[in-house]
Amino acid sequence: MSGEILLSVDDVSLSFGGVRAIADVSFDIRKGEVRAIIGPNGAGKTSMLNVVNGFYHPQKGEITYRGRTRARMKPHEAAEQGIARTFQNVALFKGMTTLDNIMTGRSLRMKRNIFWQALRHGPALDEEIKHRRVCEEIIDFLQIEHIRKTPVGALPYGLQKRVELGRALAMEPELLLLDEPMAGMNLEEKEDMSRFIVEANRLRGATIALIEHDMGVVMDLSDRVVVLEYGRKIADGVPDMVKSDQKVIDAYLGAGR
Ligand SMILES: Nc1ncnc2c1ncn2[C@@H]1O[C@H](COP(=O)(O)OP(=O)(O)OP(=O)(O)O)[C@@H](O)[C@H]1O
Ligand SMILES: [Mg+2]
Repeated sequence: MSGEILLSVDDVSLSFGGVRAIADVSFDIRKGEVRAIIGPNGAGKTSMLNVVNGFYHPQKGEITYRGRTRARMKPHEAAEQGIARTFQNVALFKGMTTLDNIMTGRSLRMKRNIFWQALRHGPALDEEIKHRRVCEEIIDFLQIEHIRKTPVGALPYGLQKRVELGRALAMEPELLLLDEPMAGMNLEEKEDMSRFIVEANRLRGATIALIEHDMGVVMDLSDRVVVLEYGRKIADGVPDMVKSDQKVIDAYLGAGR
């Protein structure tokens, strides 16, 4: 990998009361890569994404994003600077349609305030039309035209995950954080999701950090893999190297996976 470093996490530790979720972890994400974060349940993977996008504030360590170093990110800053996120448990507005959920991903990019939007007039209307066009293009890309007007609460889980990816893509992110985007999916849904992730990376230019338990998917999609166990980093490298690392094999056998 030759890309420049987009994000680096240096010596980060995070505890919740007595529980050490992350212990002295350092790793980086290079521009343009698909970076997997793997490890047994409770290893600290989700916590790490939460540190990267500012939901959690580490007690120790630093994060450098686009060359700027800080002890903590703030969620709104992370979003404004192009970090988008999907969640392990789908976090959408269940009563709203697919299209409206994806539109919420545009909110940071909307300049006109609620007053103008309520009038649906002049510049606000032009802006809304532009945002709608971006969202319709994403709907097209994700092949979810048939559900654009369906409330997402009525959709099967696999499609909800796809809508959530759509909302994240609507932010036109530089760095896209995906927390188990294929959990609970059947084989066909996983293949579709894999393809969307690859295309988001290659065609839409998003650098991706991906948490995933399916090793086949991880080995297929990722350029480099970081492995966590009990909050510590136990391996870091290209898939082939990580796959044959004895510490990694032991961690997974120990967890019964
Ligand atoms: N908000 C929180 N409050 C207290 N403890 C937490 C919190 N979030 C995570 N933890 C603890 O931190 C540790 C790491 O959790 P985390 O969710 O990051 O693991 P994970 O690798 O994402 O696991 P999984 O594969 O099950 O999603 C666990 O022991 C968990 O119980
Ligand atoms: Mg998790």
